[in-house]
Amino acid sequence: MKRAVYPGSFDPVTYGHLDIIARSAEIMDELVVGVLMNQAKTPLFSVEERVNMLHIMTKNISNVRIESFSGLSVDFARKEGAGFFIRGLRAITDFDYELQMSQTNRIMAPEIDTIFLTTSLQYAYLSSTTVKEVASYGGDISNFVPPLVEKAVMEKFGYSRP
Ligand code: PNS
Repeated sequence: MKRAVYPGSFDPVTYGHLDIIARSAEIMDELVVGVLMNQAKTPLFSVEERVNMLHIMTKNISNVRIESFSGLSVDFARKEGAGFFIRGLRAITDFDYELQMSQTNRIMAPEIDTIFLTTSLQYAYLSSTTVKEVASYGGDISNFVPPLVEKAVMEKFGYSRP
């Protein structure tokens, strides 16, 4: 049984994340998307809202499960019985951080390997941070996130679209 954990903030989930979820679910028997409850960061969406949006967006993929977690990713992955982490790599700028994180995780949990998927080209520029930045000025984020997420983000910034 190949089970992987895809940990992240998903604040909010973007088409880039959904691309990684769909592709890694094809490779794995089961994919657990782990939504980080991070005390240090102040997210736009509560963990419940982020989990709920991911639930809706992945309901057609039968081997994907959405869970929230706090603490270390390796502890969460062990609790889930996962042998792999999934992370997306957009560009070289992601590499330093991702390498550091995967190597630290590997030292803490040698039985868990990290698999990197390169983000599909059309999403290579995309991040939750830029989505929030554009939305905060009332910009159009419909190319970056699904309609339900677009509505929720715009509402957070006080904009309502028909
Ligand atoms: O979507 P993000 O913000 O890039 O995801 C980062 C995440 C959640 C994968 C990372 O911050 C994480 O694993 N945090 C949990 C704490 C942890 O395990 N830290 C050690 C990694 S070096």
